[in-house]
Amino acid sequence: MFSHAVAALRCPVCRGTLQLRDGGQPTLACEAGHLFDAAKQGYFNLLTGKGTVFEADSADMVAARYRFLDAGHYSGLATAVAEAAAGSLKGPGALVLDAGTGTGHYLHAVLERSGAAGIAMDISKFALRRAARLNPAAANIVWDVWRPLPMADNTADVVTVVFAPRNPAEFARVLRPGGSLIVVTPRPGHLAEIAGRTGMLGIEAGKEERLLDSMRDYFDPGTSHSLDLPLSLTGSEVADLAYMGPAGHHLQREELAELAALEGLVSTTAKFRISEFPVS
Ligand SMILES: C[S@@+](CC[C@H](N)C(=O)[O-])C[C@H]1O[C@@H](n2cnc3c(N)ncnc32)[C@H](O)[C@@H]1O
Ligand SMILES: [Zn+2]
Repeated sequence: MFSHAVAALRCPVCRGTLQLRDGGQPTLACEAGHLFDAAKQGYFNLLTGKGTVFEADSADMVAARYRFLDAGHYSGLATAVAEAAAGSLKGPGALVLDAGTGTGHYLHAVLERSGAAGIAMDISKFALRRAARLNPAAANIVWDVWRPLPMADNTADVVTVVFAPRNPAEFARVLRPGGSLIVVTPRPGHLAEIAGRTGMLGIEAGKEERLLDSMRDYFDPGTSHSLDLPLSLTGSEVADLAYMGPAGHHLQREELAELAALEGLVSTTAKFRISEFPVS
C-alpha cells in the first residue's frame, strides 16, 4: 500500500520520482538527491522554502478534534464518505488522496472500506502526528494544498476534502479519468443551536453556489446529497467541537471552560453536504 502511494508522489523541488530509503530512518529521496526524512511519528515534511503564512491548527485543537471524532459523533459521515469513495476505489493499486486530512479520521474509514492505498496531506504537523498513527500504511505528508501538489498527473482515483481547503485545478490534474472528487461542506443551519454560544460562524447563504462555481472550470457538474446527524452533547463535547474548528483559533481559555461547564445535554444537528464531481 505504502509503495503504491510513494509511486504517485513527486519531489516538490525537481518533480522527479521519489523512492523510499529505509536504512534506519525512513527517507524519501529523488534521483537529484533531494531528501525528506520521516519524523519519528512516521510522517514526511515535503514543504520546502519559506513557510506559508498560515495559522496551522495547534496541538490542543488537534487533540480536541481527535477526542470529538473518536467518540463517534460523526461516524455516520465517515461511513457516507467511505461509501461514496468505494465506488471509484476498485482493484489493486487504487489510490485516494485526502486533502486536509486532519487527524486522518475520514481517510481511515475510506481505507478500511476499500483497501486502497492512501496519501494524506495537511499543513499542520500536529494533525499529521495523529494521522500517521491512525493510518500507518498511508503516506502522510505535510503540505500546503494551495501549492502545486507533490504528485504525478492522473494518479489518484479519488480525492476527498472534508471541511478543508480546495484546489480544484490541482485536484483535477492528479485525478485519473473515471475518478471522482468528494467534497464535504457544512449546510446552512449546521450546529445552529450551539453556534451562537461558541463563536462559530454561521454558514452564509450562497456558499453552495460558490463551491459549484469554483469547480466548473475543472469538473463536470456533480451530484450532491444532504446528511443530517442529530447530536446530544455534554459541555466538554461542545467545548471540543468549538475548539476543533476555525473558531478555535480565537477562543480564549475562559470561554472554553465556560462551555465545558455547561450542565445537562445540548441538542443540535450537524448538517452536511456530500458533493461528488466525476472526472471524465
Ligand atoms: C476543519 S479541519 C478538517 C480536518 C479533517 N478533514 C476532518 O474533517 O477531520 C481543516 C484541516 O485543513 C488543514 N489545512 C488548512 N489549510 C491547509 C492548507 N493550506 N493545506 C493543507 N491543509 C490545510 C488544517 O490543518 C486542518 O487539519
Ligand atoms: Zn528532487
